[in-house]
Amino acid sequence: MVATDPRMLGPGVDAGSGPAARPLRVDDPFLRSVGGTPLVPLSRLVESAGGEFELWAKAEFLNPTGSVKDRAAFGIVRQAIAEGRLDAGRTLIDASSGNTAVAYAMLGARLGFGVEIVLPRNAHPSQLERLRAFGARLVFTDPLESTDGSQREARRRATEDPLHYFYSDQYNNPANPDAHYASTGPEIWHQSGGRVTHFVAGVGTGGTITGTGRYLKEQRASLAVVGVEPAGPMHGLEGLKHLPTALRPSTYDERIVDRTVRVETEEAETMRGRLARLEGLEVGMSAAAAVSASIGVGLTAPGAVIVTVLPDAGHGPAPAEDA
Ligand SMILES: Cc1ncc(COP(=O)(O)O)c(C=O)c1O
Repeated sequence: MVATDPRMLGPGVDAGSGPAARPLRVDDPFLRSVGGTPLVPLSRLVESAGGEFELWAKAEFLNPTGSVKDRAAFGIVRQAIAEGRLDAGRTLIDASSGNTAVAYAMLGARLGFGVEIVLPRNAHPSQLERLRAFGARLVFTDPLESTDGSQREARRRATEDPLHYFYSDQYNNPANPDAHYASTGPEIWHQSGGRVTHFVAGVGTGGTITGTGRYLKEQRASLAVVGVEPAGPMHGLEGLKHLPTALRPSTYDERIVDRTVRVETEEAETMRGRLARLEGLEVGMSAAAAVSASIGVGLTAPGAVIVTVLPDAGHGPAPAEDA
């Protein structure tokens, strides 16, 4: 039997695009829970550092699949559907070693389109399990080439078969920063009562810092935007890129970023433990790096109202003692 109804096909398999493709409905009650996360104070941490500033953090691990990337992935998917570039007959393909991949995979299962993820073979096993559970198809690339190698392979596949694939290209798709301009930025502005003076965020695709930073600077021209990157090319800050040695994403607009703070993996690991113990927050390494950079910024800017982002909850428990 030849299956022509996309609903009869298995995950990652599609029926080819065409007039018969079922339109996708993005107005879904579950997906309305993307964004709208709380802005939480980190007062005990600031007090213990002897700071005279305010530090607030967006708890992005409370998004449906547990990371900030639900915002970008949903923004990208929503726009592609609206423009007729993604439907039930097509397969979304992109490179991502973790959170964006899981967000796409959930969206594909929820809305009814195929998802193919290209990722380094050393991606975290729990992420692979989640991707498989959502029915995504996985393509592995050389870990030594990091997600840069995955990007090249995703682009190659999409170019070879443009009718089969929608290449969502999170590293170059303006819908990624636009999602943060439309949601993360306004949320932070309103939740801080328009008091935010500094915005500190990790840089992966640069979507979060570019979109949010642009919105916040439009509200307050003097606002400082601080990017957080790993100290070197080999690092344990999952989700972040060492831009001097990486493929430069066009979703990162350096004109928005006033300065960059580089954080060592060990420093983030220590902060991860402190966030658990002092604030009751289980966060990932990139979140801990952003908080560590924020404390450094605050110690040189008394009276500042700093807002940062906690992108995800990471993997496994935080360290129990200060290193
Ligand atoms: C855990 C984590 N932190 C930070 C980021 C960086 O966010 P952005 O891609 O918006 O720069 C990512 C992106 O994948 C991430 O997965």
